[in-house]
Amino acid sequence: MNVEARLAELRALIHHHNHRYHVLDDPEIADVEYDALFDELLALEADHPELVTSDSPSQRVGGAPLDGFRAVSHERPMLSLEKCTTVEALEEWLKRCRNRLGDDVPIALACEPKIDGVAVALVYEDGVLTQAATRGDGTTGEDITANVRTIKAVPLRLAADGVPQRMEVRGEIYMPLAAFERFNDQARRNGTKALINPRNGAAGSLRQLDPKLTAQRPLTMFCYGLGWADGGWAPASHTEVMEALRGWGFRTNADARAFEGIEGVEAYLDDLLARRDTLGYDIDGVVIKVDALAQQETLGTVTRKPRWAIAFKYPAEEATTRLLDVEFQVGRTGAVTPVARLEPVFVGGVTVSNATLHNMDEITRLDVHIGDTVMVRRAGDVIPQVVKVVAGKRPRDARPVVLPDRCPVCGSEIVRAGDGAVARCSGGVLRCEAQRKEGLKHFASRLAMDIEGLGDKLLEQLVDAGAVTDPSDIYRLELDTLVALPRMGQKSGENVLAAIDHSRRTTLARFIYALGIREVGEATASNLAGHFGDLAPLMRADQEALEAVDDVGPVVARNIVDYFADPLHVEMIERLIQAGIVWDVAAPLEAGSRPLEGETWVLTGTLERLTRDQAKAHLTGLGAKVAGSVSKKTTQVVAGPGAGSKLEKAETLGVPVMDEAAFLDRLEGYGVSVD
Ligand code: IVH
Repeated sequence: MNVEARLAELRALIHHHNHRYHVLDDPEIADVEYDALFDELLALEADHPELVTSDSPSQRVGGAPLDGFRAVSHERPMLSLEKCTTVEALEEWLKRCRNRLGDDVPIALACEPKIDGVAVALVYEDGVLTQAATRGDGTTGEDITANVRTIKAVPLRLAADGVPQRMEVRGEIYMPLAAFERFNDQARRNGTKALINPRNGAAGSLRQLDPKLTAQRPLTMFCYGLGWADGGWAPASHTEVMEALRGWGFRTNADARAFEGIEGVEAYLDDLLARRDTLGYDIDGVVIKVDALAQQETLGTVTRKPRWAIAFKYPAEEATTRLLDVEFQVGRTGAVTPVARLEPVFVGGVTVSNATLHNMDEITRLDVHIGDTVMVRRAGDVIPQVVKVVAGKRPRDARPVVLPDRCPVCGSEIVRAGDGAVARCSGGVLRCEAQRKEGLKHFASRLAMDIEGLGDKLLEQLVDAGAVTDPSDIYRLELDTLVALPRMGQKSGENVLAAIDHSRRTTLARFIYALGIREVGEATASNLAGHFGDLAPLMRADQEALEAVDDVGPVVARNIVDYFADPLHVEMIERLIQAGIVWDVAAPLEAGSRPLEGETWVLTGTLERLTRDQAKAHLTGLGAKVAGSVSKKTTQVVAGPGAGSKLEKAETLGVPVMDEAAFLDRLEGYGVSVD
């Protein structure tokens, strides 16, 4: 094959897999295989620079820096939206539409989340992205093509036939919440500037003159409509437009719905609001559009707002309030976290009176003083945070925030270790009750020993009553002790004891996680369990052996070594094991005993003899990876009753499927006994 043909083939393949991954969220190949295709493309293009095209995936890494952004005038203005916040106002709007369209004409309404990001207009000519522009003032925006090219959810070339010769697609570029949190965690660790919110993150990233910087920012995009299209194509509705866009490779929101009447819309508004914290991106409301394009045309536009659409706004996720005081909370590992006490403020749908300030460096960076007016953000499932100080509102008697010398709970000295930012109480679990309580809460929590009913409040009461000081005390609790606590009846007491008893049978991964070793999260605990198979070899492992485990670097390895070097920890583990905690021991780690190395398994449906955790632990112990979704790369699916789409997908892709009985036989064949 000649170079040109191979280049075309590579580009087509990479476009295809890019679309599977970034738009459909359903990859067909592993990351390493994708990387290999990409590396081959880069190497060929480096040898033949004259063959590089503007729609080549290589252009996503970001081209040369710009001097500034060129102004772009929009062929059709980018309008803004009328807003409402009540159902009554929404019904008024619909009534106005009805008055213009005629009383007896049915009106379908298309609803979709209103993404809180940055609006962009993408021009495609002959199916190739030729221009991306910001909204600007609606008439004139800025040319951000070089930056937008780096966003993988934006198609550089459209795959299918029937694409208009020239068209403009509009949508919202945004930063997903998880990516935003990750970016800010990193910034706080490095002492660099954190982003105020994902919207600012997206806007700032798109404003970089160096596209290589944009390429490093985790941005994505939802398309929500068509600006204009040249001749030939005559869709009847917004819904039809969106389907076509999706077919051509654009990322569209799967939560979009159309309804015939207002009742459906109102239920949609409630449902989306209830799910707001789980969407994974910021929304500020819902956009409701008259679906039929002919009706949109009839309704027309007034003062830069279409009559055919309206934004229903949800409660804001940011608000300003006064910082009344800063207190210091001591966590499980002794980390001392400054917590803002606020004048209560309604934000993100709830009243907030506390927010985290993260650490002392963050306080310095934000320059927060007690008495300041601050902006508070509460979005997604993260705890409320102070994100900035409102300038010019500092009262005369404002006071700086000072880190105390001594732990507010146990009075031990507070030290700031080499890593700087984190201040810790030096008391340890033995002296510091705060650390003890937090450690116990972690031990009993859902992802750790999962003791249902033994919640934070109850544990605090038990510690205060002197009934529990160490996790093993939980397993010696008696009914009398529990029912003696306020608001604890006989029946609830028995339930708690049953849950405690139930938790004795666990997995090694959960047990390791429950110990609360610094920086050993759930994923690391699971890797450690899979690698070592049992606790004893983990406890004996040295720094080097630990660093051989996936995701374990020198710092985590050192934390683990230090943890098990402390005789108090070893004694506590012995007490727990004496209290009857057991887990299945997975296949030992000698060479050749990881027969499923390199395989990817998927579990779906209900398993009856094993819990998911146990099945997972066995599989990882045997060297397999356990994935959450089925793709061509899946080696084997284990399906129990109730298996749905994953099973179907396995069947379509021809991935082998076995039931639980066959799975147990297979495990037994590897010497794993399941009782
Ligand atoms: S439709 C006529 N749909 O909201 C305007 N806009 O005030 C048509 N936005 O900055 C806009 N999500 O970028 C539409 N699903 C969505 C949207 C959306 C966010 C933004 C848009 C614009 C603002 C409109």
